[in-house]
Parts: sequence; C-alpha cells; structure tokens
Amino acid sequence: MGSVGAKEVPVLLSPDGKRIDGRRLDELRPLKIVAGALHQADGSAFVEWGANKVMAAVYGPREVHPRHLQQNNKAIVQCKYNMAAFSVDERKRPGLDRRSQEISKVISEAFESVIFVEEYPRTSIDIYIEVLQANAGTRCAGVVAASVALADAGIPMVDLLPSVAVGKIGGAIALDLKKEEDNFGEADMPMALVPQSGRLVLLQMEGHMTAEELGRSLDLGVQGCRSIYEVMKQALRDRYQVGGGAAQEVGA
Ligand code: CDP
Repeated sequence: MGSVGAKEVPVLLSPDGKRIDGRRLDELRPLKIVAGALHQADGSAFVEWGANKVMAAVYGPREVHPRHLQQNNKAIVQCKYNMAAFSVDERKRPGLDRRSQEISKVISEAFESVIFVEEYPRTSIDIYIEVLQANAGTRCAGVVAASVALADAGIPMVDLLPSVAVGKIGGAIALDLKKEEDNFGEADMPMALVPQSGRLVLLQMEGHMTAEELGRSLDLGVQGCRSIYEVMKQALRDRYQVGGGAAQEVGA
C-alpha cells in the first residue's frame, strides 16, 4: 500500500506491468452472457463480468406511460438503471438518485441512436437494468446486457452495442477497470461502440488524461468492444439454437 495524504491507496500496477488482479493492461475481466434469462420479459440477458452481476429486461414496443411522453413520429426509449441495496459494500439507499438518473439518461440516448425508433411511432421501448453486484463498469455491463436483451426481444437495431470502460492507473492506460482501479486511478472513461460503423454512442470521462492518452484510450476501448461484441453475438446464437441458452465466456 502506498499513501496519498491521509488516504491509503493500493499499488495499482506492479513493476512488471501487472494489475492488482494479475491482468495485463489490455486484458478484459472474464465475461459471461446468458441471453433470454427471464421468462416474463419480451427480451432479457444476464451478464457476469468480473465481479459485476447485471440483469437486463426489455419490454415493447408498447403503449407509452406516462402518455404525454408519446411521440407521433417515433418510439421513445426509456431506460431505468437501478443498483440493488445489496450490490455494493456499503448498503446503497434504495431508489432513484442523481447517479442512476444520469446513467439511465445516457443509456437511453445511446440506444435511441441505434434502434429503428421511427418504425414504431407512439410506442415505448422500455429497458430495465438491475445491478445485483457491482465492481465498477456497471453502466457498461448494463449496456451489454440491454443490447442482448433488445436483440432477444426482436427489436430492430443498427447493431449491438458493446461497451467497456478504459482508464488511467499508475500512469498507464488500462482496459476494463475494476473497483480499486476506478476509485484510486487517475481517469475512467466508459464508452459504447457501434461496431460496424465505428461510431461511439456513449462516451464519458472522469479524471484527467493528455490528448495523446485519450487517443490511446479510445483505440484500446474500441479493441475491447470488438472482443465483447463476439461474446454478445455468440450468446444470441446459443439462445436461438435447439438446446441453446448456454453461457458465453471470454477470458475465464
Ligand atoms: O459502475 P460504473 O463504473 O458504471 O459507475 P461509477 O459511478 O463509476 O461507479 C463505480 C463503482 O463504484 C460501482 O460499480 C460500484 O462498485 C461503486 N459504487 C458504490 O460502491 N456505491 C455507490 N453508491 C455507487 C457506486
């Protein structure tokens, strides 16, 4: 442990370039996706990614509630991201807070730009993301789960949306930060990619990086998204094969 002021911070990067969980800088945490994990929803997916456990359920296109949000020329996309009280070390107060409102908004906007919303005027496409266990990168795990759930619901989209956070830890650019890296690192940058066009539909950043580091982070994130995309597609292939539904894994 090193120390910064009064705060004890873990050493995030060993002299040989290994991270606290032994990963390389460009290595993802193990990722497992089950498409169609819930029977009641129109589409669903369960994602286990490192120590994150996230369920997504999708309903729609269906009637808009509340009614005044209805749009005559397109469907609206409403995402509700929620963290269970038991999902984090210090019990999270149940209910809406600013953080979950912000995450719900950026995820709704990301999906609104890939779903063919104009095909379903006056309807709502509702995405529920429930974080059951959190260890950083839950909004990305939520986007991955919701993408697979939307495809499972048969909602037409330009593409699936792989998503990952890149950041800066111990002065180096690293893929897929875990909690200690997110808390004590220098920067955290979640992103979501449309793989076929290379367009980013979600990009946020907390902390500081130079322009050159930002460029390298984007490259590393795009590379991570492309690996995640393969696991997402395989989860859907398995779901729609006879006897499918097996979990898809990477890095396990
Ligand atoms: O989860 P994500 O990285 O998308 O969002 P964040 O706001 O950067 O949160 C990082 C991590 O902090 C979460 O994944 C949780 O592990 C943790 N956290 C927590 O312990 N208690 C909260 N109320 C919020 C977040």
